[in-house]
Amino acid sequence: MPGKVAKIGTFSDWVGLFEQWRKDIGVNTEEMQAFKFETLYGQVEEGDIQFGHYKGRPKWETVRQIPTQNMRDALLNMIVYQGDTEFASVEQQRYLLESAPSDYDRRSLIRIMIEEMRHGWQMCALLIEHFGQTGKVEAQKMLERRAFENRRLLNAFNEEVDNWMDLFAYTDFVDRDGKFQLQMLKYSAFAPLGRSMSYMLREEAFHMGCGDTGLRRVVEAGLVPVWLIQKYLNKWISESYDLFGTDHSSSAHWAYVWGIKGRYDEPKNQHDPDLDDINDYNRKLYHDEVAGLIERFNKALKPGQSRLYAPDVRFNRTIGRWANQKFHPQTGEPLDEKSYEQQIGEWLPSAEDKKLLLEIIANEKGWISSRAAARDPLATIGEPRKSAINI
Ligand SMILES: [Fe+2]
Ligand SMILES: [Fe+2]
Repeated sequence: MPGKVAKIGTFSDWVGLFEQWRKDIGVNTEEMQAFKFETLYGQVEEGDIQFGHYKGRPKWETVRQIPTQNMRDALLNMIVYQGDTEFASVEQQRYLLESAPSDYDRRSLIRIMIEEMRHGWQMCALLIEHFGQTGKVEAQKMLERRAFENRRLLNAFNEEVDNWMDLFAYTDFVDRDGKFQLQMLKYSAFAPLGRSMSYMLREEAFHMGCGDTGLRRVVEAGLVPVWLIQKYLNKWISESYDLFGTDHSSSAHWAYVWGIKGRYDEPKNQHDPDLDDINDYNRKLYHDEVAGLIERFNKALKPGQSRLYAPDVRFNRTIGRWANQKFHPQTGEPLDEKSYEQQIGEWLPSAEDKKLLLEIIANEKGWISSRAAARDPLATIGEPRKSAINI
C-alpha cells in the first residue's frame, strides 16, 4: 500500500497548516495571535554521547550520521509522540479560558497554551528539517489527530479536562510527566533534539508551577472537600504513571542502548541501568517527586482533616505489569474484584462528584484563594526562570 504523501514541501507550508489547526480548534484569542512562534535551540548537554553503546563518540548533528535505520525510526517515533502530546493538551484545555477563576489564571492558561503550541511547533520543525518525506508526513498528521476524537497517541491526552480542578491537577502531574520526558530527551545523542529541550523545560516549569500553586490555593481555601481533591489526584497521577510506558519495554531498552533517551537522573546516576526496567525506574522517581509535593499540600490542611497522598503506582493502571489489576490506592493492598468494584467510587471522580465540584466552583467564590501579587504571566513569557528543572 503506498504511504501517505505530504502536502507540505517546506516548514512554511507546515506553518500554514498550523494556522488552520488553530482556527479549527478555536484557540485564536487576541493574546495568542500576538505571539510570534519560534524554533528555539539552547545549549546541548556535553558534546559527546553520554550513555549507551556509543558513549564517548560525538553526538549526531544530522540523521545521516545515525548508524542504523532502526535507530532513526526509534528517534522519529520519540519526536512524534512528544509533539502529539503538546498539540493534544491545547485541544484538551481550549474551553477553559471562559471559566478561569481570575484574570491572572486566564492569562496563565493563555501562556500555557501558547507554550504547548510552541513545543509542538519545535517537534514538527525537527521532523521537517531532519527526517525528509516521512518527517513531513508525520508533522502533518500531528495536526490532523484530535484529542476530542480520541485519536491522540496516549490515553491521558484524549481525556476530558473540563474544569479548573482538572486543569490544576493536569498541569501539576501530566505536565510533570512532560518534564521527565523532556529531561530524558535532553541527554539524547541526537544533538538537535537535546538542544530543543532547554527552552521547553523552562516553559514546562511555568505550567507545573501553575498547577501546583493552583492545587495549593484550593487546599488552602478549604471549600472543596479533601476527599474530592484526592479523587482528582488519583485520577491524574495514575494516568501519569501510565505515560512512562510499559514495564520490560524493549523500545525503552533500545532507546537507552542507542543513546536516544536517557534516564531522568542520567548524569548523576553512576550505576548501570537495569535495561529491562528503565520505564519503571523513571516512574518511581516521578512517584517520589509527586509524593513530596503532596506532603507540602498537607501542610495547608487543618488539624484533624484527612491527609492527601500520592496513589500507589499499581492503582488504576491500564498498561504494564499492574494493568487492569485491583489495588487499594493508598495502601497498595491487592483487592478482589468485588471489593474493588464496591469501593472504586470512593477513589475516582464519578458523575455526581463532578456535579458537586461544578456546584462548588459556581457558587462559592472563595473555592480557590487568590494569587498574591503575581506578575502578569504574559508580560514575563520567554523570561528565564531560575528553577526550570526542579519545580
Ligand atoms: Fe509541553
Ligand atoms: Fe506543559
